[in-house]
Amino acid sequence: MKIVAIVNQKGGVAKTTTTANLGACLAERGRRTLLIDLDPQANLTLGLGVEWYNLNAALQHVLYDHEQTPLASILHQVADLPLMLAPGHLDLAHCESVLLPAADKAYRLRNALEELQKVDEYDWVLIDCPPSLGTLTQNAIVACSHLLIPTEPKYYAFAGMDTLNKMILDLTKSLRFRVELLGVLLTMVERGTKLHQTIATEIRERFGDKVFQTVVYKNVRVSESEIEGVPIALFDRRASGAQNYESLAEEVLSRAS
Ligand SMILES: Nc1ncnc2c1ncn2[C@@H]1O[C@H](COP(=O)(O)OP(=O)(O)O)[C@@H](O)[C@H]1O
Ligand SMILES: [Mg+2]
Repeated sequence: MKIVAIVNQKGGVAKTTTTANLGACLAERGRRTLLIDLDPQANLTLGLGVEWYNLNAALQHVLYDHEQTPLASILHQVADLPLMLAPGHLDLAHCESVLLPAADKAYRLRNALEELQKVDEYDWVLIDCPPSLGTLTQNAIVACSHLLIPTEPKYYAFAGMDTLNKMILDLTKSLRFRVELLGVLLTMVERGTKLHQTIATEIRERFGDKVFQTVVYKNVRVSESEIEGVPIALFDRRASGAQNYESLAEEVLSRAS
């Protein structure tokens, strides 16, 4: 089971869009895929047509006590695919303070996933992280085998990636585990914008072949599909956004299968 945390402490860099679409494309290729919405904004959950405010149980209950609320008990199937969603909820915002005194507060998701594996096998688990480096993101990093870092080609993206790198290094050192960088994904790229090209080149120089060959271009159909509660990959296959995520899925499978 490959567990990928889709992480960047900056908001609006297409973490959620990438989770939904990469997940849909992997599931379309027959891979059993689980999406985990770890963001209190629950955009992934809403974007997949699940109304978090009507749910009796969501991810925060699993993080508080997975014996009482196992991960398997909160899953929703998405579309007609081997694609499941562990929904997020506004109340995930309380996790930070509720879990504060717990010694194992960064291990909650990892433990829940280990239990899940005893009853259900998944090929891929994709974790959509909130735009912060707090307890929720730490849970994702501790639980994952791989990281996928989406970033816009902007100058300050570099500073953000250094902070992220340092946090991951500190965590892996103090908690003694390993994670592998699956790749850096350039998102929201504007065709024909010279600045974007220049920065994209710099990011490739810096991260070498860790940067995916696939680039996700800006495409208004992506936002439109979100409103419909369907990932672009299932909403309009001919849209450039859909094709970019198809190509990302192929690249991800060739990097880690
Ligand atoms: N390739 C794209 N083209 C156009 N809009 C996009 C694209 N990817 C994401 N968006 C839009 O940008 C906004 C932020 O994306 P989102 O995935 O929510 O970012 P994050 O999860 O990192 O905060 C959303 O409204 C989304 O629809
Ligand atoms: Mg998001």
